[in-house]
Amino acid sequence: MHSELLDTQHKELYEFVKEITHMNLSFAHSKKLKPFLRELLLFMNRHFSDEEEFMSQINYPNLSEHKKIHRQIILEIEEIIIKESKTLNTMSKKMEDVVKNLVFKHTANEDSKIAKFYEDNFLNKNEI
Ligand SMILES: [Fe+2]
Ligand SMILES: [Fe+2]
Repeated sequence: MHSELLDTQHKELYEFVKEITHMNLSFAHSKKLKPFLRELLLFMNRHFSDEEEFMSQINYPNLSEHKKIHRQIILEIEEIIIKESKTLNTMSKKMEDVVKNLVFKHTANEDSKIAKFYEDNFLNKNEI
């Protein structure tokens, strides 16, 4: 990503995903689950706002579009938590799929565009 902070956060997001899979396999109960989901959401919010800050620093042209996708991801996860809160005794497969999908797909498809923009506009300048 050309930002040490964002790279570290992406790695940490993968760790969260691993943890979710682990919780699903071990049928972790809501006592562990709720603080975990709270932590995940907090972390995602922090990562998204740091990433948005980075985009604005490099004048990334699709900042507002990317921001919208971030908000959508948060909303989607919050919605599962709200909808399933009464029955949320174990981590659901749905939550695992959504988080996995959003974290992996978003990083690969959208965040990679920020890195590409940075490379095109800031890294090649010295070679010309
Ligand atoms: Fe990201
Ligand atoms: Fe992003």
